[in-house]
Amino acid sequence: MSATEEQSGSSTKSEGEKEYRVLEDLPGVGPATSQKLKEMGFHTIESLATATARELEPAGISEKKALDIIRHARKNVSLSFIRADELLRQRQNISRLTTGSKVLDELLGGGLETQTISEFYGEYGSGKSQICHQLCVNVQLPYAQGGLNAAALYVDTENTFRTERLVSMAQHLGLDPEQVARNVIVADAFTSDHQIFLLENADKVIKENNVRLIIVDSLTSHFRSEYVGRETLALRQQKLNKHMHKLIRLARAFNSIAVVTNQVMAKPDVFFGDAVHPIGGHVVGHSSHTRVYLRKASRGPIRIARLVSSPYLPDGEGVFKITNNGIEESDEPQKRGRIK
Ligand SMILES: Nc1ncnc2c1ncn2[C@@H]1O[C@H](COP(=O)(O)OP(=O)(O)OP(=O)(O)O)[C@@H](O)[C@H]1O
Ligand SMILES: [Mg+2]
Repeated sequence: MSATEEQSGSSTKSEGEKEYRVLEDLPGVGPATSQKLKEMGFHTIESLATATARELEPAGISEKKALDIIRHARKNVSLSFIRADELLRQRQNISRLTTGSKVLDELLGGGLETQTISEFYGEYGSGKSQICHQLCVNVQLPYAQGGLNAAALYVDTENTFRTERLVSMAQHLGLDPEQVARNVIVADAFTSDHQIFLLENADKVIKENNVRLIIVDSLTSHFRSEYVGRETLALRQQKLNKHMHKLIRLARAFNSIAVVTNQVMAKPDVFFGDAVHPIGGHVVGHSSHTRVYLRKASRGPIRIARLVSSPYLPDGEGVFKITNNGIEESDEPQKRGRIK
């Protein structure tokens, strides 16, 4: 037993009450195992609580020991069977973040939710990245103004993140642009594997910087360009699936909002309605809890958002606009309602 294990073992608290703060606090995790786990991307108790035993095995530990570590980590993070009334109470921990447009917020049932993945998809220029930038600013607002008083992590796969846009948006909201820019951590992802690696290792950055908004913009662009041809499809979907799972686990562990963007593909066989669909098929569709389809109006800054899928909200549409100030209310007549 290592010194740290002894320390936590000699704690006056009973095992049920014990609070683990760093990996070495967990029974059975000595300095060597802790080092290996960190190298594998598990820097926090929260990320271990949502890991699978198989994921921990490369650290050179047995399945039994891995299960033990996970079980202890879970004590900190309450992730077990719960009654529906308790679930309701947990859901009350869910916070919401404003998009900057009342119409869009209303469409989303009061803003974007923590602990879930929200997906914005649409063609180029439809406003996906603009919304992401706006959310990075809004998340820093106090709760009373629809923010979470927290920081943002932006995984940028297309090199479209621009600090200048944050500055304009921050100025419009009367925030200090320098401060706002300091609270947005940007990670450039060069390939799909690099993108996966960044998320696998994001837990420490998230915890240390009070990140409550995790953005992957775009989720699918690298996958789409690297995995071409039918024979690569299965592998692509498998990797995407794992990536989305990592994202949802981070969102749950840190009570954060996860946002992904996605491009669309033409549907050659559709003659009526929208002849496009988002990339990534069922894997992305099933892991995104809330999906919003964005499209450009025929002119100017107006964009139309359609809530396509939500676990509990009706489908509907809303109109907003993109200006130099960011995401704003549009003066256009709204046409919210169920979609036929
Ligand atoms: N400073 C600005 N002032 C006004 N409108 C802006 C400004 N910056 C960007 N826009 C608008 O936002 C659009 C770009 O939107 P955005 O980058 O969010 O598209 P996207 O959906 O992410 O597209 P892609 O699929 O190419 O990533 C521009 O075409 C423009 O209409
Ligand atoms: Mg974009």
